[in-house]
Amino acid sequence: MFEVEKIREDFPLLGSQVHGKPLVYLDNGATAQKPRVVIDKINYLHTEMNANVHRGLHYMSEECTSEYEQARETVRRFINAASTREIVFTSGATASINLVAYSFGEAFIHEGDNVVITEMEHHSNIVPWQIICGRKRAQLRVIPFDDEGRLMVERLPELMDEKTRIVAVTGASNVLGTRPPVKDIIAQAHAMNIPVLVDGCQSVVHGEVDVIDLDCDFYAFSGHKIYGPTGIGVLYGKEKWLDSMPPFMGGGDMVATVNFLHTTYAELPLKFEAGTSNFIGAIGLASALQYVESLDIKGAHVHETELTDYATKKLSEIDGLRIYGTQPDKCSIVSFTVDGTHPYDIGMIIDKMGVAVRTGTHCAEPVMAHYGIKAMVRASFAMYNTFEEVDRLDMAVRKAVSMLR
Ligand code: ALA
Repeated sequence: MFEVEKIREDFPLLGSQVHGKPLVYLDNGATAQKPRVVIDKINYLHTEMNANVHRGLHYMSEECTSEYEQARETVRRFINAASTREIVFTSGATASINLVAYSFGEAFIHEGDNVVITEMEHHSNIVPWQIICGRKRAQLRVIPFDDEGRLMVERLPELMDEKTRIVAVTGASNVLGTRPPVKDIIAQAHAMNIPVLVDGCQSVVHGEVDVIDLDCDFYAFSGHKIYGPTGIGVLYGKEKWLDSMPPFMGGGDMVATVNFLHTTYAELPLKFEAGTSNFIGAIGLASALQYVESLDIKGAHVHETELTDYATKKLSEIDGLRIYGTQPDKCSIVSFTVDGTHPYDIGMIIDKMGVAVRTGTHCAEPVMAHYGIKAMVRASFAMYNTFEEVDRLDMAVRKAVSMLR
């Protein structure tokens, strides 16, 4: 049995109060809280073991380099990549996707080509593609979703053609919770020799990821959403692609030799890690992943699903409340509006009751546009949330609605 109270003890911040009320933290889709092992590891590095990596022969530099490269191995194992050469540390999923858009785009996207994304993407999996398409005079094509939040994957065959250079799709929508049939999309794209990038920001934390089984070409995620530090992220890329892509940024650590006539680049993955890397973040991320590996992941996933179902049931009973995204296997996200109220007002009022949710467009304006609205309230659950917290959310929303009407 998954023991949520035991898990909560690992997260010091969950015992906080805001506005004099016990915190109910339901903004995990934006960022998750950190277990003590991660906090302790980062504190230890800052107080006792801090030196730049790949740059010194002295003791601390060697130690930090070794931990940094072990962190890469931990990430490799966590997502089951074939090699650490395929694991690039970045500042986050946004940087990972931009890296692919610029670097892959520079090499492989040309005038008249097209890129396929979906209507439910976060801005970070839209705008980088728009920029490269604009620069290369390529076309951006979009797989739509229906009003229930189901990706209309049956439209994919008509959107892909011999000019499609890449398909970029979310592993789980940060608004609708929908998990598109990524494996099926990858199989269809591969049948036409088109690579696929998966934005794993919201999906990596809610289930086991196996990039070999998935057979994706690129997989991006951020550390801070999987109980790790901010400012660190991962780009997984199949070696054959990373090898054939030019570097995205130039600087220290990404070179083999430099002179004023010619520079040669470092081997993978360092070719894509110019400048001092966020090695403390990477080592902290490895602690977070090890922490997750030590848990009953399946139990955590079942718990998150039960919380989502419970919240959906309770909130649906509120008069005028509409939930966006009702796919059966959605991840633990419940986005909603309530007739006659503004999402910001709900968010502000329930914050005063200690309940933290996200309000606004959730960096996914096309999803808002689909429904003809400007904003939503979003509760996003992590494994450490409880049914009592869902009850507090429900009571707080009811109270806010009665005040606002
Ligand atoms: N992408 C993050 C969210 O959905 C910040 O809230």
